[in-house]
Amino acid sequence: MKLAWERAIAATRDVHASADAPICAYLYDLKALAHHAAHLRADLPAHCDLFYAIKANSDLPLLTTLASRLDGFEASSGGEIGWIRQHFPQMPLIFSGPGKLDTELELALAHGATVHVESLHELERLATLARTTKQSASLLLRVNPPLAELATTTLVMGGKPTQFGVAIEHLPTCLERLRQEPTLVLRGFHFHLLSHQLDADNHLQLLSAYLRQTRRWCAQYDLRIEHINVGGGIGVNYRDPERQFDWPRFSRGLAELLTQESRMAGCRGLPRVRFELGRFVSAFCGYYATEVVDIKEAGNQAFAVVRGGTHHFRTPYAQGHSHPFRILPVNNWRRAYHRPSIRARAVTVVGQLCTPKDVLASDITVEQLRVGDLLLFPYAGAYAWHISHHDFLRHPHPRHIYLPAEDPI
Ligand SMILES: Cc1ncc(COP(=O)(O)O)c(C=O)c1O
Repeated sequence: MKLAWERAIAATRDVHASADAPICAYLYDLKALAHHAAHLRADLPAHCDLFYAIKANSDLPLLTTLASRLDGFEASSGGEIGWIRQHFPQMPLIFSGPGKLDTELELALAHGATVHVESLHELERLATLARTTKQSASLLLRVNPPLAELATTTLVMGGKPTQFGVAIEHLPTCLERLRQEPTLVLRGFHFHLLSHQLDADNHLQLLSAYLRQTRRWCAQYDLRIEHINVGGGIGVNYRDPERQFDWPRFSRGLAELLTQESRMAGCRGLPRVRFELGRFVSAFCGYYATEVVDIKEAGNQAFAVVRGGTHHFRTPYAQGHSHPFRILPVNNWRRAYHRPSIRARAVTVVGQLCTPKDVLASDITVEQLRVGDLLLFPYAGAYAWHISHHDFLRHPHPRHIYLPAEDPI
């Protein structure tokens, strides 16, 4: 995914020019997001739908940009359902995630969400609520089958016993309960077994296994299902940004796979394939901009302390990587005091928190870095601000700037 840096750089310079203190800000390029989402959707074969998992970033400008370009939203809490319905009353909606409360299930039913059921107990509770409120509940069973095709990534939620999904040994009981309960309508199966998938071919193999497994269950339990949800989990390569997940290759492979599968589906027909991607949709449009407030040399190490830190931008800590960044040199130094700087050496970029864990990037060789220079961290549009512990130390929050999807005329 080639980043168009220019708008983010210009916006960072603008923020800096109008600031009277060191800056930190999130910048979201909605034009880039619109373009990216439209391409993701357009590349997918006809038999597929693309939903956005709003947990990755639920800011309204992003959701508004995505609503007309994608097929629906996935929510994982009552709060997310409420947020989506407040602003997008007609948008197709999924409700998934473990530990759903009765109140949240009620909300999901009232708002016409498809519920991804995580356990037998949840199924029983949904049945009771649907009966009591005289509604039918449209659902998918989230399943967690052991699959040989599950290449491991840095975050695996399935293929082994975990808290996610219906354990495979409970599937027959769930299906039996569904047969007895007319208020519950089984639409299909939901698989979300891993995150951070970077390899298109591995992901295709996994989807092929999902489709095969679904076909077997349909034959074994005499099921007719409408769609399978293949989850999110496509990764962003923070460590080697030039080598991102190859979506066009993946989409071409998927088209071939679906052609083969439709031949084998027989009279039951091929279920539609629904994606609920988070990171891969919104990460690329976001940038975290910050300013160097101190440079320290300690032993043979150098540290650049920036305005902000992991309480704003927790992504590198959460994923255990050094986040890539660009230096935007600031040449007009207007302060009355000396300007510390380093040249041609490795630097660790840290934030303002009183913890050694507040590290954004480690041992990165820079040509030159000075106090007052700006750093721009890309891939900050997903699981960034929204997973950060904003109020630790009560530093002010960064500005949030949304660069419009359409340029003003
Ligand atoms: C059930 C489910 N679907 C979709 C997603 C989105 O995953 P990603 O952002 O990796 O695409 C998640 C993330 O945790 C999830 O738990």
